Amino acid sequence: MSLDAQDPTRTDFPALGISDSAGVGFLFEQLKARFLADLARAAAHSEWERVRDHWSGAGGVPQRIAANWVHQAPDNLRPLLFRERENLISFINIRLMTTQPLKQLGIVNAEQVAARFRDLRNIFDSEIERCIDEVDLGIDKTAWLGRKSGVITQITENWLKTSSPELKPAIGKELNSLRAHIETTIEGRQQKISAAAESAALARERVDLSLPGVDRPIGSRHLIRQTFEEIERIFLSLGFAVVEGREIETPYYNFEALNIPEHHPARDMMDTFYLDLPPGSQPHLLRTHTSPMQIHTMEKQQPPVRIIVPGKVYRRDNPDATHSYMFHQVEGLAVDTDITFCEFKGTVEYFVREFLGPAAKTRLRPSYFPFTEPSVEIDASCFVCGGSGCRLCKFSGWIELFGAGMVDPAVYGFVNYDSKRVSGYAFGMGVDRLSQLKYGIDDVQLFFQNDVRFLRQFP
Ligand code: FA5
Repeated sequence: MSLDAQDPTRTDFPALGISDSAGVGFLFEQLKARFLADLARAAAHSEWERVRDHWSGAGGVPQRIAANWVHQAPDNLRPLLFRERENLISFINIRLMTTQPLKQLGIVNAEQVAARFRDLRNIFDSEIERCIDEVDLGIDKTAWLGRKSGVITQITENWLKTSSPELKPAIGKELNSLRAHIETTIEGRQQKISAAAESAALARERVDLSLPGVDRPIGSRHLIRQTFEEIERIFLSLGFAVVEGREIETPYYNFEALNIPEHHPARDMMDTFYLDLPPGSQPHLLRTHTSPMQIHTMEKQQPPVRIIVPGKVYRRDNPDATHSYMFHQVEGLAVDTDITFCEFKGTVEYFVREFLGPAAKTRLRPSYFPFTEPSVEIDASCFVCGGSGCRLCKFSGWIELFGAGMVDPAVYGFVNYDSKRVSGYAFGMGVDRLSQLKYGIDDVQLFFQNDVRFLRQFP
C-alpha cells in the first residue's frame, strides 16, 4: 500500500484547478475520507505508525498543505484554506489519539489519563469556538457525540473497553466528565448562535420610523365622475333624489313599458347586446338607456316622484369621436298631480345655467321619443362664442344638449298611474357628451383609454 499514491497535497494548489470555496470544501472532505480509510486499513495491517507519520508527522500532510496550498493559493481562498487545514489537523489528531488503546499510546497511569483528556478538552474547546452557525455546530456535534464514530464512542471502544482494571475507574470518570462538558458547551453555544441569529433578524426587520414613507399617489376623480357629481349636485338642490338602476334589463322594461313595442323603428336605433342564455329563458339585455328606471320607480312608488338616475348604458354603436358602446346617462323623472310644461322648462333652464354658466340660454326644439309627448331636444347657446357662431356650434350659435319631454300618458298605463290625475316630465342626458362639451374634449374615447396625461388635466 502506498500512502502517497495520488496524494493531492503533493500538487501545488493552482494546478488543482479549484477556484471557489465549494471546491475547497470538497477537497478537504475527500482528504478526511482518505484519512479514515487509511486508518481502517492500518488497524488491519499493523501499519499504524506509517499512517500517523503520513497524516501528522513532520513533512506529512498538514505541512504539505501549508507549503503547497495555503502559500500558493489566490488571496481570496487563502484564509479558507488556512481554516480548513486547522480543522483537518484536529480531526486527524483526535482520531489518531482515540483509535489506539491507551497502552499503545504509552499511557499507563491516572495522571497520564487525566493529561490526555485535558488535551482532548482543549481541542474540543477551540473547535467549538470556531462554530459560527448551526451548520458548523451540527458537524462538531456529530464529530464528538456521534453514536457510530464520534470521539466519545471511539474512547469508549478503544480506551475504556481495552484498559486494565486499575485504570478503568479513572478513564470512566474522565470520560463522563468530558461528555458532560461537551454536552453543556454545545448547548450553550447553540443558545448563543440562536440568540445572535435572532437579533440579526430583528435588526434586519427593524422598522425605521425616521425613514420617509412610501409615496403612493392617490389619483383623482375621473372627469365622468366629476360630471356626474356636478349634475347630481344641481338636481339635489331642486329636491330630486338619486337612485341607481340595474344594468341588465328585460325587453319589457327597456322597451315595451316605455311604449316601444316589438317592431317599433326606435328599437333599431337602440339595438343592443342580448345575453346568451339557455333556450327557453326569458331574454335579457344590457340596458340601452337609463329610462327603464322610470318604470321601476313608478311601479314601486306613487306620485310625487322626483328622481335622477345616473349610470352606465350599452349600445351596439361603433366607436368614434362621439360614440362608444358603453357610455353614461343621467335620467330624470318628475311626476306629480300638477306638473306643467312650464315647470319642466324652468327646471331645464335652471340646470343649463348652473351647468354651463349664468350666461347660457336654452332653446327647446321639437323631437320624438315614444315615451314622451311632446318631446324636445334641449339646446344651449354656444358657451364658446356666446351665440355668434363658431366651429364648436358649427356656426349655428346653439349646441344640442339632451332629449326630454312630458311623460306620454301611455306610459302611465304600464305602471297603474291615473293618467287623468298625474302629469310629469322626463329627460335623458348623455354624460360623456356633456363632459366633452363643457371641457372641450374632441374625442370621447379619451375617457376610456386611461392615459394619465389626459386624466391629470382634470384633478
Ligand atoms: C335616449 O337614450 C333617451 N332615453 C333619452 C330620454 C330620456 C328622452 C327621457 C326623453 C325622456 P338618445 O338615444 O338620444 O336618448 O340618447 C341620449 C344621449 O345619449 C344622446 O343625446 C347622447 O348624448 C348620448 N349617446 C347616445 N349614443 C351614444 C354613444 N354611442 N356614445 C356616447 N353617447 C351617446
